[in-house]
Amino acid sequence: MMTMPRTRRSIGFIGAGKMATALIAGILSSGLWKPQDILASDRHPASRAKVRKAFGIRTVKDNRTLSQKASIIFLSVKPQDIDAVLSDIKDLAEGKLVISIAAGISLGRLENAMDARFIRVMPNTPCLVGEMASAFSLGKNVTVKDERLVRSILGSNGLSIKVKEARMDAVTALSGSGPAFFAYFIERMVRSSMKVGLGKDDAYALAIQTCLGTGKLLRDRKLLPSELIAMVKSKGGTTEAGLDSLKRTAFNANVEQMIAAAYRRSKELGKHG
Ligand SMILES: NC(=O)c1ccc[n+]([C@@H]2O[C@H](COP(=O)([O-])OP(=O)(O)OC[C@H]3O[C@@H](n4cnc5c(N)ncnc54)[C@H](OP(=O)(O)O)[C@@H]3O)[C@@H](O)[C@H]2O)c1
Repeated sequence: MMTMPRTRRSIGFIGAGKMATALIAGILSSGLWKPQDILASDRHPASRAKVRKAFGIRTVKDNRTLSQKASIIFLSVKPQDIDAVLSDIKDLAEGKLVISIAAGISLGRLENAMDARFIRVMPNTPCLVGEMASAFSLGKNVTVKDERLVRSILGSNGLSIKVKEARMDAVTALSGSGPAFFAYFIERMVRSSMKVGLGKDDAYALAIQTCLGTGKLLRDRKLLPSELIAMVKSKGGTTEAGLDSLKRTAFNANVEQMIAAAYRRSKELGKHG
């Protein structure tokens, strides 16, 4: 008896920009998907050529062809372009798994536009180096298999956690905007250490590696920040002097305000989402 070959599923990216490029790199490096399983469409020939050359994936000119060919569709265009894409692919993408990474676009809005199985994802920029922190929310009709699939795709690029959609604004404030907040702190540490004698290049190299190492230590050893602080700090030492000085400032309140402001802005932007 002849056995039918199992049809391979394919992933299509609508919008071949920065985030799609980063996600494709992670997906391919996982080894679970081959370049021939990935498709991308973009309105710019140059963007299509770039991902074709970089990854050996297939590209198509229009979103409709992509929606016909791909079994899983990523919406990786800017939020303001989502409506146009949805109306473009509506009849072809219905019934498929559609994963949106567009900030502020709610599952309700996606589900109102067409009858597909939607998952909303908030990625972050370290996706570019395979160290993404992402969160996803499931729409109605999403199956257990769909969830497993999105976990494996996002997991190939770093960390992914499932959250209720109502938490997406908090996720946006913490991990969506977070890379910029950490980068700002690094910049301030660099400038301050230059004032006490370090050269710029050395200061950047040391600050960045310290940030990286601290994150890895917290993650890999499952330490609480307070436990790590206790490992570094000794009575009467330099760390204690620095932290005591920081605690005398409005640092904690400022951090709270920073997260609250990003959270509020995310809510505002998503109001019509
Ligand atoms: N970048 C981040 O750090 C980050 C973080 C979290 C979430 N996100 C989300 O990720 C999504 C993508 O962001 P990105 O930074 O990767 O954007 P991007 O680099 O601008 O990539 C989007 C690409 O899609 C193209 N495009 C727009 N409309 C199209 C259409 N109708 N058909 C085909 N192609 C179309 C764009 O062309 P044009 O240049 O002509 O518009 C652009 O080449 C956004 O929704 C954003 O909210 C990004």
